[in-house]
Amino acid sequence: MRPRVWVSQPLFGDIVGRLREHFDVIETAAVGKHPQDEIAAMLASCDGALVTLNDRIGAAEIANAPRLRAIANVGVGYNNLDVPALTHAGILVTNTPDVLTETTADFGFALMMAAARRITEAERWLRDGQWKQWSFETMLGGDVHGTTLGILGMGRIGQAIACRAAGFRMRVLYHNRSRLRADVEGTCRAQYVDFDMLLAQADHLVLVLPYSPAVHQIVNADAIAKMKPTATLTNIARGGIVDEDALADALESGRLAAAGLDVYEGEPAINPRLLALRNVVLTPHIASGSLATRRAMVSLAVENLTAALGVGPRAGDPPTPVNASALDWSRKPGISK
Ligand code: 8YV
Repeated sequence: MRPRVWVSQPLFGDIVGRLREHFDVIETAAVGKHPQDEIAAMLASCDGALVTLNDRIGAAEIANAPRLRAIANVGVGYNNLDVPALTHAGILVTNTPDVLTETTADFGFALMMAAARRITEAERWLRDGQWKQWSFETMLGGDVHGTTLGILGMGRIGQAIACRAAGFRMRVLYHNRSRLRADVEGTCRAQYVDFDMLLAQADHLVLVLPYSPAVHQIVNADAIAKMKPTATLTNIARGGIVDEDALADALESGRLAAAGLDVYEGEPAINPRLLALRNVVLTPHIASGSLATRRAMVSLAVENLTAALGVGPRAGDPPTPVNASALDWSRKPGISK
């Protein structure tokens, strides 16, 4: 019997179709969040799954999934998955780093610039027919070049943003769980500072750190109070990192100049206070969304799933595992590496 895999969302059919060489594939026709019982029912009869951030999978969803051996997440962030629970069950998790780094960094930089220079606000104003007369003082924003960029989370995407900042002659400060090696800091021309210093010094603060409960709303009212009132805040990481009401307070009162948000705590629902503000650029979680990159992400996820299920050219050696310890093939019956 061929192994069965579930593809939880409609993804690029030509790429996902490669799975048919080795597996029976259950595809999904419509985009959306599946209820917990539907995910559990699907996983109950599958050996593997290709999922996205729409799909939350933990102990409850795999409780009755004896055949499940691998979950390939299409995305570098995998906070939709309870990795300890999946690891405990011997299920390999993979993600899609690297292929999205540059595209996501491009977008982070663009969002920061759009917030600083009021690009979407100005466009809405123009489209609303409010531009009656050219004026010297229309839509004055903050500069980007020559200012201080603060990066919270200095992984691959943070480093790629830092490299872009050099072209704008920016001073780059960063804060991260661990300090980068001196040679990497040198390449990025970035200086390590503590969190408070980052908040105090940044003219533009960009959030690029992975989400975990430990960083839930670390950008809260206290943190925002330490920032310059002229600063901007850009979030391309996960919505839960920012206290959205505290951010709305700061943007309403002028305590912060502007924000660029691609991610939201309750997405796709958006805090109505943010929707009502002029000085925030809001985009629908598209930082990795160039066509080439989204295709590369699905391709990598397909390669991961195929290898994790022990077939294809990299059988048993998926390129980007999250919990390599789950590659203990002896823990599940009927698997030969
Ligand atoms: C993805 C993302 O589009 O990679 C991530 O962590 O947030 C986005 O690039 C998303 O994860 C798709 O599941």
